[in-house]
Amino acid sequence: MKIAVIGLGYVGLPLSLQFARSCTDVIGIDVDPKKVELINRGLSYIKHIQAADVAERVNAGKLSATTDFGCIKDVEAVIICVPTPLTKNREPDISFVLDTGRSIAPHLAKGTLVVLESTTYPGTTDEDLRAVLEEGSGMKAGVDFYLAFSPEREDPANDQSKVKLIPKVIGGYTPACLERAIALYTRAIDTVVPVSSCRVAEAAKLLENIFRSVNIALVNELKSVYAAMGIDIWEVIEAAKTKPFGFMPFYPGPGLGGHCIPIDPFYLTWKAREYGKNTRFIELAGEINTAMPEHVVHCVADALNSQRKALNGSRILIIGLAYKPNVDDERESPSYALMNLLTERGAKVEYYDPYVPVIKPTREHLHLAGKQSVKWDRATISSFDAALIATNHNCVNYQELADWAQCIIDTRNAMADVKIAAGKVWKA
Ligand SMILES: NC(=O)c1ccc[n+]([C@@H]2O[C@H](COP(=O)([O-])OP(=O)(O)OC[C@H]3O[C@@H](n4cnc5c(N)ncnc54)[C@H](O)[C@@H]3O)[C@@H](O)[C@H]2O)c1
Repeated sequence: MKIAVIGLGYVGLPLSLQFARSCTDVIGIDVDPKKVELINRGLSYIKHIQAADVAERVNAGKLSATTDFGCIKDVEAVIICVPTPLTKNREPDISFVLDTGRSIAPHLAKGTLVVLESTTYPGTTDEDLRAVLEEGSGMKAGVDFYLAFSPEREDPANDQSKVKLIPKVIGGYTPACLERAIALYTRAIDTVVPVSSCRVAEAAKLLENIFRSVNIALVNELKSVYAAMGIDIWEVIEAAKTKPFGFMPFYPGPGLGGHCIPIDPFYLTWKAREYGKNTRFIELAGEINTAMPEHVVHCVADALNSQRKALNGSRILIIGLAYKPNVDDERESPSYALMNLLTERGAKVEYYDPYVPVIKPTREHLHLAGKQSVKWDRATISSFDAALIATNHNCVNYQELADWAQCIIDTRNAMADVKIAAGKVWKA
């Protein structure tokens, strides 16, 4: 079987490798020629994906990459894994999905299966994507070609999170579409979970992400309530999670990050308006989580104040630019919000993150492009008035940080087990 995977990012590349491992010929398509070139040379551009793994599939002739959509005419299935961000006004931007649909449509052969994996609002597959595919191909979904939605579940940097082992929810546009999609995914994935429609599958993915966003907001709120009472939220969570049923731990932090949790819930908010419905939980969680960087900056100011220093003019080191531990992904990272808020108040801000040695140019943070991670040594670390732990990478030596830093503001409880002088760590 030959398939095409479109969008070779954090979702598309591991998925392509898993299909290639499962006796499927995979052609990866991406608009980024650099990614295409690296894959064809057997290299990886994602930290947790080994180049050897890519090289093995490429050398076995099971994986290749291209920027040319013409190859769609020769494949039995097409899987779309392109970005679904928000616009500046925080509305869904499905232009990447629709552009991909327009690029596929002229090459679509009769009987091909098209599956969307990008996270999105219910109706994207059977309304928006179907419309561009039908218009560009002159064929009918469910009659001439098959259409389905199957959300990706990725947990970057979690070694136990293997594409093959994570159950895959699948919804088809028609029962025949569903049957085709099940046949495709059972080649590579151990467990598939069929549901009655594309919309149910789209809605299930949103529920998973909204669940995280709301629960993170809850512990973020409790963090400041309990702190005012002199109670440490981290100790509370450790105690609560010993309950063997009906509880699941979520942890506070400096705000949401990544390409999913800060964004996806608002896809539903936007779509719900079409039906005259409000999404109050989502909006409230968004409000609380978005306010976290401000809360952290207040804590930094308090910590400096206790040493008779002002934020204005202080040198602050942010530790961890990536949005979660042990990954190199800094999209939507709250560290950027922290950098901006601290700089606005006159602080001089640098960062340390071995996984993000230099900040790449992006539309949102163009002013930070080219900024480099500082060196990790006593002279450098001790030269800052305060170190702010935004992400707790395992590779950071927290004992050295304790010994070298003048003052530490910890948003991740990273210093919990480290020997350190009393009063030097401030939890935020
Ligand atoms: N990253 C995650 O952990 C994760 C988890 C679950 C779901 N998702 C969802 O999966 C989707 C993809 O996310 P990602 O993290 O892999 O994004 P990504 O930015 O890492 O990768 C997307 C890739 O698509 C390519 N691309 C963009 N437009 C294209 C086009 N028109 N044609 C071909 N290629 C195109 C980009 O060059 C890029 O390589 C999003 O909807 C996201 O919400 C992501």
